[in-house]
Amino acid sequence: MAQKVQFTETVVRDANQSLMATRMAFSDFADILSTMDKAGYYSVECWGGATFDSCLRYLNEDPWERLRNIRKAMPNTRLQMLLRGQNLLGYKHYHDDVVEKFVELSIKNGIDVLRIFDALNDFRNIKTALEATKKYATDKTVASGCISYTQSPVHTPAKYAEMCKELQSMGFDTICLKDMAGTMSPAEAEALFKGIKDAGVTLPLILHTHCTTGMAYMTVMKAVESGVDIIDTATSCFSGGTAQPATESIYYALTQMGIETGLNEKVINQVNDFFKPVKQKYIDNKTLNPKSMATDAQALVYKVPGGMLSNMIANLTDMHAMDKFDAALAEIPAVRADMGYPPLVTPLSQMVGNQAVTNVLVGARYKNISKEIKSYLKGEYGITPAPVDAELQKRVLAEAGMEKPIDCRVEDCKRTGEDFKAAKEALGDLARSEEDVMSYICFPDQAKKYLEGVKAAEENKVTYTITEA
Ligand code: CO
Repeated sequence: MAQKVQFTETVVRDANQSLMATRMAFSDFADILSTMDKAGYYSVECWGGATFDSCLRYLNEDPWERLRNIRKAMPNTRLQMLLRGQNLLGYKHYHDDVVEKFVELSIKNGIDVLRIFDALNDFRNIKTALEATKKYATDKTVASGCISYTQSPVHTPAKYAEMCKELQSMGFDTICLKDMAGTMSPAEAEALFKGIKDAGVTLPLILHTHCTTGMAYMTVMKAVESGVDIIDTATSCFSGGTAQPATESIYYALTQMGIETGLNEKVINQVNDFFKPVKQKYIDNKTLNPKSMATDAQALVYKVPGGMLSNMIANLTDMHAMDKFDAALAEIPAVRADMGYPPLVTPLSQMVGNQAVTNVLVGARYKNISKEIKSYLKGEYGITPAPVDAELQKRVLAEAGMEKPIDCRVEDCKRTGEDFKAAKEALGDLARSEEDVMSYICFPDQAKKYLEGVKAAEENKVTYTITEA
């Protein structure tokens, strides 16, 4: 039987997010959706991540309505979203009932595949979302457990295989390795995917990577040779740079190797033809910075993601301290080790980067500790991959009058999140639906402003109708 590798198309979510900060309006891609529905993708990633924030804040769109419209136009394709476990679409820990409601509404409005991850790979933080997915599942629903990929002395292929086994025993349907910084090398991909299969993991495996450092095509190819089942790609004009490798190119390469993809060549080319002028429009209005389309191997040299480097350069420039750049860069591995080697993904990348800069500027390690690093050391972000520096943690705990770090989920021992009922009351008559309440819980200011706009437009429309009559 021929090997089969399926494709998840990312043009409207991750490629859109990575290349142009999710500024693509629904009206820009609405007309191609019915064609995309015939492409034969495993799924189309179209929601979650930054789509909510961007829709409400910049595009004056209701993210739920966008999802329903995509659903209507693509009845035959799995629609996929990225969900940050207990943090939903942000960085706060929400209550279980809010997480459950969010998952229920996502499925109700058209999501089929929920790719669920936690920045620290603390799987307690994805359990509620998984259980809710199972509870509200239709016959098309897929719960995909996702691992944030990073490199460190404790992140061995054996450790990843262990994590995959845990996701499998938790009841997930598929497993994704998410290489957000694009630093997974071909050799690492081979060791990982073979190791995972050898450990007895039978669930379909997915590779999500980015072209940032230039390795993605090689890494995808090695992953394919090592048994990956699904890969994430973007239509070629929105591929490369900080986005995914190109759908058509990988289709071409795999087809020649006799690997089945299920893709329709004519349709995937039509999709690319459609998006070319869309891309040009955003280059012309400067939304799409050509810099994000280039390859930058710096992340391989410094072992930090590109976004984290540019953030650090911006901070140091603001403080007129760019002469400290090399020292701050050299400080990052030390801070990361003290924190127990967290994956450098938002917000951990910023937290580690800022602390490294502070250590260097103050001239003494941890003389000043940021509020976020303190909460992290108190256990509020979850279980760290390796133990944190014991002395440092003791100091922070003593300062807070705590004997030991929180050892349960934040949700269980420190309820800080939003309450659905309270949010509904706060929104009052602006809420047209439960979906509106959920938008407000996730992005209160943006959602309120958007809904006030909707209400004002409604009132104007009524006045207009009366005048006409
Ligand atoms: Co990504």
